[in-house]
Amino acid sequence: MPGNRADAVWLATAARLGTRGRPESRPNPAVGAIVVQNGVVVGRGWTRAGGRPHAEAEALAMAGDAARGAALYVSLEPCAHQSVRGPSCSSLIAAAQIARVVAGVEDPDPRTAGAGLALLRAAGIDAQLLPSPEAEASLEGYLMQRRHGRPHVTLKLATSLDGCLALADGSSQWITGPVARAHVHALRARSEAILVGGGTLRADSPRLDVRLEGLEQQSPERWVLTRSSAPAGWRAIAAPTDIAHMADCQYLFVEGGAGAAASFLAADLVDRLLIYRAPIVIGGGLPCIGDLGLADLASAHGRWRSAGRRTLGSDTLEIYERTRCLQA
Ligand SMILES: NC(=O)c1ccc[n+]([C@@H]2O[C@H](COP(=O)([O-])OP(=O)(O)OC[C@H]3O[C@@H](n4cnc5c(N)ncnc54)[C@H](OP(=O)(O)O)[C@@H]3O)[C@@H](O)[C@H]2O)c1
Repeated sequence: MPGNRADAVWLATAARLGTRGRPESRPNPAVGAIVVQNGVVVGRGWTRAGGRPHAEAEALAMAGDAARGAALYVSLEPCAHQSVRGPSCSSLIAAAQIARVVAGVEDPDPRTAGAGLALLRAAGIDAQLLPSPEAEASLEGYLMQRRHGRPHVTLKLATSLDGCLALADGSSQWITGPVARAHVHALRARSEAILVGGGTLRADSPRLDVRLEGLEQQSPERWVLTRSSAPAGWRAIAAPTDIAHMADCQYLFVEGGAGAAASFLAADLVDRLLIYRAPIVIGGGLPCIGDLGLADLASAHGRWRSAGRRTLGSDTLEIYERTRCLQA
């Protein structure tokens, strides 16, 4: 494999490993690292619960003496700052006598922001940034917080073939089948916060917990979009733009209903749209997204691109990503 292509593959591997730490690594990013010696992985790691140890420290510890002269691939630039919790990853890498470092994303944390790579170079290490879409995607929540001061937002809706999320009387349990619902629970477990609108809270009193064996402890914090106060066990935001105050949250999972969905979309605060479509026709039910007040169809086009489709039991999951890049 040509050098750059091989580097890209190793970086994608490190990025995939990093996602194992999501979301327990918070408030730190879910970073992954691998140490490669003569084409063989001799160490690997991902950032652990609470943010320590960092992925690089884990990978270097596993590699031991085999780290000497090896290459280290890491999804995010190694940190440059020493903290009370330990030395910087850059100094650990230098001490382990790693010969080459390839990072997939520059860390926007102002304490690092290029300084990690500079420190490595100053230590005589061949350190480079190789922009990696996989690394970028694996860190999207962290990068969204650092670059735009808000969590990454996924909007999930379970609908009928004709785009209804409930019968006209509001009943919506259950539109999709058990496989799709289990998939939703797995995604809940990867989010720090989950939100529904006040209408859903009043209509369904949803638990919004994770009901998958072994993952029960990973139920996210529950939030409601309401102009009223939050009931016990819930936290409230009064407007979608208030997610800017959710500083500790990298991934927010919004589960409807139609009013909350419309509010987030109208505020341009949805990054990923998940439509779980059941093979049923409701007809005359509640549309899955409330009125966006569009003046013409042209303004609806070009905002979303299809990012995949999966069969989940008898249902189909459609994934859409926003097309427009946010301004830095
Ligand atoms: N199939 C599914 O995936 C799914 C998922 C969820 C819900 N549902 C169904 O959807 C129905 C509920 O949908 P819905 O549209 O009536 O209610 P909703 O979207 O859950 O909640 C609407 C409420 O959200 C708050 N809200 C909305 N926009 C706001 C804004 N810009 N600023 C502040 N608050 C805002 C208001 O709460 P306050 O009135 O409290 O101020 C509003 O009444 C139920 O039948 C439920 O079963 C289906």
